[in-house]
Amino acid sequence: MKSAPLFRRVAVIGLGLIGGSFAAALRDQGLAGTVVAGSRSARTLEQGMALGLIDEGSQDLALAVRGADLVFVSTPVSAMASVFAALAPGLAEGAIVTDGGSVKGAVIEQARRALGHHFPRFVPGHPIAGKEKSGVEAADATLYRQHRVILTPVADTDGEATRRVAALWSAIGAEVLTMAPEHHDRVLAETSHLPHLLAFSLVDTLARQGDSTEIFRYAAGGFRDFTRIAGSDPVMWHDIFRENRRAVLDALDLFRDGIERFRAAVRDNDSEALMGIMSRANTARAHFLAMNTRSSYTRARHSDDETGMTQHSDPTFVVAPGGRLQGRLRVPGDKSMSHRSIMLASLAEGSTEISGFLEGEDALATLQAFRDMGVVIEGPHNGRVVVHGVGLHGLRDPGKPLYMGNSGTSMRLLTGLLAGQAFDTELTGDESLSKRPMERVAAPLREMGAAIDTGEGGRPPVRIHGGRTLEGIHYDLPMASAQVKSAVLLAGLYAEGDTSVTEPAPTRDHTERMLGGFGYPVRRDGATATLRGGGTLSGGRLDVPADISSAAFFLVGASIAEGSELTLPHVGVNPTRTGVIDILKLMGADIRLENQRDAGGEPVADLVVKSAPLKGIVIPEELVPLAIDELPVVFIAAACAEGETVLRGAEELRVKESDRIQVMADGLATLGVEHEVYEDGIRIVGGAFGGGEVESHGDHRIAMSFAMAALRAGAPITIRHCANVATSFPGFAGLAAGAGLALEVLGQDTADAGESA
Ligand code: S3P
Repeated sequence: MKSAPLFRRVAVIGLGLIGGSFAAALRDQGLAGTVVAGSRSARTLEQGMALGLIDEGSQDLALAVRGADLVFVSTPVSAMASVFAALAPGLAEGAIVTDGGSVKGAVIEQARRALGHHFPRFVPGHPIAGKEKSGVEAADATLYRQHRVILTPVADTDGEATRRVAALWSAIGAEVLTMAPEHHDRVLAETSHLPHLLAFSLVDTLARQGDSTEIFRYAAGGFRDFTRIAGSDPVMWHDIFRENRRAVLDALDLFRDGIERFRAAVRDNDSEALMGIMSRANTARAHFLAMNTRSSYTRARHSDDETGMTQHSDPTFVVAPGGRLQGRLRVPGDKSMSHRSIMLASLAEGSTEISGFLEGEDALATLQAFRDMGVVIEGPHNGRVVVHGVGLHGLRDPGKPLYMGNSGTSMRLLTGLLAGQAFDTELTGDESLSKRPMERVAAPLREMGAAIDTGEGGRPPVRIHGGRTLEGIHYDLPMASAQVKSAVLLAGLYAEGDTSVTEPAPTRDHTERMLGGFGYPVRRDGATATLRGGGTLSGGRLDVPADISSAAFFLVGASIAEGSELTLPHVGVNPTRTGVIDILKLMGADIRLENQRDAGGEPVADLVVKSAPLKGIVIPEELVPLAIDELPVVFIAAACAEGETVLRGAEELRVKESDRIQVMADGLATLGVEHEVYEDGIRIVGGAFGGGEVESHGDHRIAMSFAMAALRAGAPITIRHCANVATSFPGFAGLAAGAGLALEVLGQDTADAGESA
């Protein structure tokens, strides 16, 4: 695609893979009037001309930059000092200079010395992209697309120059980040330079041993994987280790401490410490990458560039119309209970073995947060997690922000729990979570004596100051929210005296029940729950039943698709969660609860659903909080029902992972379903509808709801941005397809590509 040129004349100094690909991208997209190259190698310039990457070339660098309004220096870092000095005399007044060096502190100092008064027009940069091949012949116009470029302007860098360089990289298709040079050098030392150093060192250490041929002959996959990057260019890495000496040494010291801890655990046969290190590392990798990409855990596991910073595709669901659902399928563990199981087990004395844990991204965010606060957690493996509790006062300062991904429950409940700790914490989240209201938890916690700052508009990040004394309060919830209730009760564990919460309508009571299961008394008096601070929780066993919110998609799917019959075993049917069953039954659905029993203080049952004609109803308002997460799929049931369905009193839907009233209404409009939107609800007129392309806005429940709608649609339904389905229902697509939904997933990452040097 061609754009308007952003620069008249661009000089690229050094025409290897980095410079050549930059030139190729400029030409490809028409971002520069003229592209000229400066290189000391006549052959490289000839190749650049022959490949059509440049219009002109010169071996004299001052000549090459003459008249250019942008100069991009992409020579090896060790050569930059002499390159800056050579090109400086040719620079036009106002020309912007930028670079592609992978070490910033040293390059900035060299530029400051060589460029003199021109230095404020120098914008230090580092495109994080590479290939196994090098040289101009490997130039690739798409090399930077969806890769990150880090700009590290300093105090005297001209803001306008920085903006123009950022705009150019964005136009090339890169994602531009800005950070301080020291920060850049430290991050790169830890995430890129240290691993390369270790790979070179391991191979060298083994090669020095007597029988190295034998060792390499029998080297297993682990050795090959770990040392693959030792195949990178020694000259380039020699320069990097020297130019980023200070940060590389710091990273090595950090690593030495880590390896010493590991060594001690092996030496002392300390199995808990060993499990702790390895299970933390196991998920920490995904977590760090998710932090960097501000994306989901599952996607972060499939990173493929030098630092794992690639952006990832967000899959699309395409669902063919018609079909029916049949069979027996177990949906994953309850999300609300999975969060609470990790939190309470961590605060308990002794170990807790959890089964049925939801291995979805939201619950994993909670799990990771507790690992970051020093709790040893084994698993998850097939839903089994063992948490070695540290007691109410055993959490440790994580020393960095805790990343909550897409999970509102993690952030709100943790805010309450962390308000009573001795240390400060900061909670961050992805784009959707960063828009959600947090004052609703911060306000009552402040009444208890907590010190909490929220970001702009009362949204994340949430900063919690530790070391405060909390006092028990009575709090009348202004809205029916189990998250707010739970946050206050969890803070109450650390408060002096009684903490009680009265809710305007019943909301899920898993926190109260589970506290009871851990031996922590909670009194219930009508709409009020009360606990006294300073007690103890005792670890044990905990079974998480299947999530009724995930089952709901299948309850609706099987109800609307003629000829369907499904059994959903071991689903949690806590009366504060079964609003969806009540609503669907009022609409005429055929749902039976079989084999009802108690599992660790929570009622469970096998749900059997058969297709049945549905009719429109006015949804009783008292059922709204009991079905809050299932309402999007109830909208689909309403679209398939005879007559009108009216929902009111559901304004909370507007502050979920998306504005679920509006986003559902937009999707229904696409399908041609007649409806009317209210501030607090919707009226939907049932009938036949078509297909089309629906935007989920990254909201898992919206995506899965529209997938089910296809069972009754007249044409295929395409649903965009479905990656977040993995927050609550990993494996949804496979399970649904197995039951009979004609669902295809496009644009999914399929394998862990590993990292390239
Ligand atoms: C949840 C409470 C509800 C619900 C969310 C999970 C919980 O949120 O929507 O998915 O686990 O406590 P609100 O408390 O905001 O209603």
